[in-house]
Amino acid sequence: MSDKKQSRIRRHRKVAYSLLSLLVLTLVLPLIPYAVAEKDETAGKVFNPGTELWRDVRQRDRDVIGTTQMKSVDAGVLINEYGETWRHFRMQQLVPYGAALMGIVLSIILLFYLLRGPLRLQEEPSGKKIERFTVFERTVHWFTVAIFWLLALTGLILLYGRFVLIPILGADGFGITASACKEAHNLFGPTFLVALVLLFLTFVKDNIYARGDMLWLLKGGGMLGGGHVSAGRFNAGEKIWFWIAIIGGLVLSVTGLILVFSILGQSREIMGLSHVLHGIVALVVISVSFGHIYLGTAGVEGTLGSMTTGYVDEAWAKSHHDRWYAEVKAAEDGSDKIVDEPGLATEGKS
Ligand code: HEM
Repeated sequence: MSDKKQSRIRRHRKVAYSLLSLLVLTLVLPLIPYAVAEKDETAGKVFNPGTELWRDVRQRDRDVIGTTQMKSVDAGVLINEYGETWRHFRMQQLVPYGAALMGIVLSIILLFYLLRGPLRLQEEPSGKKIERFTVFERTVHWFTVAIFWLLALTGLILLYGRFVLIPILGADGFGITASACKEAHNLFGPTFLVALVLLFLTFVKDNIYARGDMLWLLKGGGMLGGGHVSAGRFNAGEKIWFWIAIIGGLVLSVTGLILVFSILGQSREIMGLSHVLHGIVALVVISVSFGHIYLGTAGVEGTLGSMTTGYVDEAWAKSHHDRWYAEVKAAEDGSDKIVDEPGLATEGKS
């Protein structure tokens, strides 16, 4: 091979090696910081005062409590990280699942009504009335109902109004409505606790588990066929509703008071948790109340009168609450609480 040819090959080789070395360098060099960063956590991080300040404010990866002259719980925390978790839960879970729960319960009730219709009396009304609720019992019941629905409706508007009412009232109209609902909800919230205590004291003695309640439950209260099932003054279904209303109402009242009286020293995290619990329990109690309202009105023939007039037909009492009917007959000797027409009770006179 001639010298000229050999030197050309050497030159080509040099160029090829140089290009190869350059390629390796361009690929490997940028990886070196990553290799080093494995040992040194801070390597590769570029200090950015803006980002650092925002991270401090949000406390994303450490707890930074600032200083302030304000004297209150969490006063030094500018932004509560938990607030974002709370907001996410409210919008992504509470709102859709709550709506689904209420929708499912209402659909089941509607379907049941369409398929089975109301539960009718087994025998013809006798025309003889028996006192079921005193004026005091009915007053306590309807007082609780009024406060409950005032709070339920204003609460539902605060939770769902944005989606339902803005298209109807517009943003301004909804703003006024929501603000009025919030004031009413906060103002009447504590009254619900008063109603709840009265409801508890008035009805608790007849809502304790008694023999026969389990059988009533196993037979589905006769709603699924098989005729009426024996029961005392309140059947097992009513007792379950009573305890759901009392325990649920208590949770709603306590969490509500934590939210309304924000000056009692509770942290923002406690308030966030209270709000979550308040929302879940409210939606559950409201959904269960649909069942109670159905059974107290269209679901069971002749029931609503017990809470409006205070009296029920003897035939109703015998078929739905036979043990209670027998007790009343025995205790009253069948005379002083049984009358021919509603409103004509002459207690102790006959
Ligand atoms: C519009 C709504 C409501 C209607 C139409 C309604 C109707 C009735 C009726 C007709 C009864 C008598 C049932 C019977 O004679 O056995 C009753 C009982 C009762 N209701 Fe309501 N109710 C409503 C809402 C509520 C609410 C919101 C609560 C509680 C938060 C409640 C608590 C009770 C209690 C405790 C009883 C006595 C039965 C028991 O202790 O289990 N009601 N209701």
